Amino acid sequence: MKDAQPKSIYLKDYKRPDFLIEKTELHFTLDPSETLVQSRLEIRRNPEANTPAASLVLHGQELELISLSIDGHALSSAGYDVGPEALTISTVPDEFVFEAVVKINPEGNTSLEGLYKSRTMYCTQCEAEGFRKITYYLDRPDVMSEFLTTIEASESDFPVLLSNGNLIASGEADSGKHFATWHDPFKKPAYLFALVAGTLDYVEDTFTTQSGRDITLRIFVESKDIDKCDHAMRSLKNAMRWDEEVYGLEYDLDIFMIVAVDDFNMGAMENKGLNIFNTSCVLAKPETTTDAGFQRVESVVAHEYFHNWSGNRVTCRDWFQLSLKEGFTVFRDSQFSADMNSQTVKRVEDVSVLRTLQFAEDGGPMAHPVRPPSFIEISNFYTLTVYEKGSEVVGMIHTLLGAENFRTGSDLYFSRHDGEAATIEDFVAAMEEASGRDLAQFTRWYSQAGTPRVVASDTYNEDSGTYTLTLAQSCPTTPEAKAEEKLPFHIPIAMGLLGDAGNLPIQLQGQPADPDTDDNTNIVLELTEPEQTFVFEGVTEKPTPVLLRGFSAPVKLHYDYSREQLTAIMSRDSDGFSRWDACQKLAVAVLEDVMQAYRGDQAYRVDPLLVAAYRAILIDTSLDKAMVALMLQLPTEAYLSEIATEIDVEAIHFARQYVRKHLAAALSAQLEAVYQASNEVVPFSVSASAIASRSLKNTVLSYLICTDTDENLQLAQQQLANATNMTDELSGLTAIINSELATDAQRKTALDEFYQRWSAEALVVNQWLVAQANVAREGGLERVMDLIQHEAFDIKNPNKVRSVIGAFCSGNPVNFHRQDGAGYEFLADQILVLNKLNPQIASRLLTPLTKWRKYDKGRQTLMCNALQRVLAEPALSKDVYEVVSKSLK
Ligand code: ARG
Ligand code: ZN
Repeated sequence: MKDAQPKSIYLKDYKRPDFLIEKTELHFTLDPSETLVQSRLEIRRNPEANTPAASLVLHGQELELISLSIDGHALSSAGYDVGPEALTISTVPDEFVFEAVVKINPEGNTSLEGLYKSRTMYCTQCEAEGFRKITYYLDRPDVMSEFLTTIEASESDFPVLLSNGNLIASGEADSGKHFATWHDPFKKPAYLFALVAGTLDYVEDTFTTQSGRDITLRIFVESKDIDKCDHAMRSLKNAMRWDEEVYGLEYDLDIFMIVAVDDFNMGAMENKGLNIFNTSCVLAKPETTTDAGFQRVESVVAHEYFHNWSGNRVTCRDWFQLSLKEGFTVFRDSQFSADMNSQTVKRVEDVSVLRTLQFAEDGGPMAHPVRPPSFIEISNFYTLTVYEKGSEVVGMIHTLLGAENFRTGSDLYFSRHDGEAATIEDFVAAMEEASGRDLAQFTRWYSQAGTPRVVASDTYNEDSGTYTLTLAQSCPTTPEAKAEEKLPFHIPIAMGLLGDAGNLPIQLQGQPADPDTDDNTNIVLELTEPEQTFVFEGVTEKPTPVLLRGFSAPVKLHYDYSREQLTAIMSRDSDGFSRWDACQKLAVAVLEDVMQAYRGDQAYRVDPLLVAAYRAILIDTSLDKAMVALMLQLPTEAYLSEIATEIDVEAIHFARQYVRKHLAAALSAQLEAVYQASNEVVPFSVSASAIASRSLKNTVLSYLICTDTDENLQLAQQQLANATNMTDELSGLTAIINSELATDAQRKTALDEFYQRWSAEALVVNQWLVAQANVAREGGLERVMDLIQHEAFDIKNPNKVRSVIGAFCSGNPVNFHRQDGAGYEFLADQILVLNKLNPQIASRLLTPLTKWRKYDKGRQTLMCNALQRVLAEPALSKDVYEVVSKSLK
């Protein structure tokens, strides 16, 4: 909590640590409110310190100090100073043993940072700066130490005692309790420390590495969840094999453990050898988990596993380098998921998130570069920019270098920096050396915020057969720099040319044809200047340019396509991503027609081109069903809001509903046929093709329910009643509760029965909450206010908070953005409660309010009022203070 105004910390002020900790020994005596932590640290002065004579300053927060000693001599209170965030000892030798005993209160720790209790178990979350809530320490990632950890607890309550590394001793302690001692031979920063204690069951498997070592794999869960571990285990083994094959990286310890906890601020955490997961990212079985849930488990398990190299073996020098591990690891997990499932589907999903949420972040008051120059609270920078845009930046390096050079670069990076705390420069330098490419200009992607805008224009000369494409780039103002101060980015633009019969061969003027490639219809242009012109030769017909294939750069690209050109790309381009993207662009244009009519009180018209395009997709059985489903999904309200200059909440909602209904009516025969054809009873599987088939069926159901045909309501009811998996069951429920065909009583029955069936399964109940929070029908705020009174809601559990408050405020715009501002006041109330309990979660919930500048004057005032009310709270956490104050600036 802040005393005065919390201070910013700057990257430019980075100093090497004054001291290093060679060895860390910890002894925990667990107790709900009085856990004792004894530490023994072997400390020495850092020969490379910037200030060689400095006093010893250790981080520590919310610790009750019992005793301190240096080299076995107890320190009297005159010898040190304890503040709310640090312990200072003014004179220490160059090398010494520091010992401390502190008391902490896990049960009272609702921030879920440090050591805390989740249901019946104890667990830790230390990234980024949670270790200082466990004991006094140099809690910074460039201080790496060898850890020896002993946990002592009652054997009956806590039969399982875990920490990082290998178990080296266990048995009965003098106290009569039992103990376990774990040793982690790999030096690590404190943020990778973990401890778990509880009554846990586990599933076990083994993995044999490429060099022939057998690794024990264990997933620890509460016994009720033991039947939900298979998918995570399979995903883990796939990830281990994949990292060996694709990156040449092998696991290093003899055991790899995952623990599932119900109360967790984020998705999961890569603690060395002991990953701790939010239950939502590890547990899965068909009856309780949707296909999206299965895929999330696969990607998060892989993500955390991949951190063992990109994060743990090579870690970050300081938290400004966060994207060094997160951007790279997201890139790696995306490649993995694409390899396990479908490249195109994965790309479309990732780009949707990026363009909707990251672009919005980049255009808002919290915009920051992939490597932020400063922060008040680092927890606020675990963002879409650091993760998802960071991954895109690594992806662009991959595109510019090619797969082979990229691999050489990553090999060099890992071998050169193994055991070190590295920087983004180190990563880029390895990529440059491996490829011989100069990435100096490219690094602006790390230092400049904002989504670049690229405008493309062209001319075609029939006589000479030349096609000229001009690309111009600019970047809007963001908090760290004005538009005119931004330097041009190095932007890879993958593209091709489309003619009447398909893609045209590409011959760039002044560049010899590449004899090595058999695909001459694809090229990557490198835009480095503010404006650049590219001339293509031998172009036999006026082409349609297909720009940014595969979304080769995180930019907003504008080209003035006709709707006919978009349908041509949609049906004929070789790149699946571009076909989907053209479909989205066409849908946006059609939706904008309706929005305009809504505002001007004109007659509504849905361009028949869109209907025809959808009809063609629906009847073409040769297409990948997953792609058909994705193409049939209209751009979301969130995406339409992101691309709008001023967000017209009602017009966006109306247009989308109107077009959906129109399509449903115009295509009812095709939709019904597709529904019937894909509603066959097949044994459940999570193969890409089975998921695709369910995805198409349920997308189609969401259209059918928009018609005024009562049979379609029955279809949804039958699906809900007969479902054998959660994807179908939840889609049935969602269809009913959103349907105008259903009566209030029918909606209530569906919801009540679902709850009765699943009230014992927390993760299913969360989905039930999300489904309700997202219902756009009138009265959404009142329904959500009821939901937070429901027995299933718990404000101390982040998953519940996200499922109700988070889902409502970001997934239900018409209700959250009610004209009277009641939605904003509701959110402010919840944030003020959470500010005290869990600042990280409180801060994250603020996001929708921070976007106030994009709304009309009336809403702007109401949103700012809500923010001001939060800012006026006297005991504001750093987390909330930073976001509120920056968004009001
Ligand atoms: N490193 C974790 C990951 O895999 C996230 C930890 C975030 N923790 C936090 N307090 N923000 O992405
Ligand atoms: Zn991560």
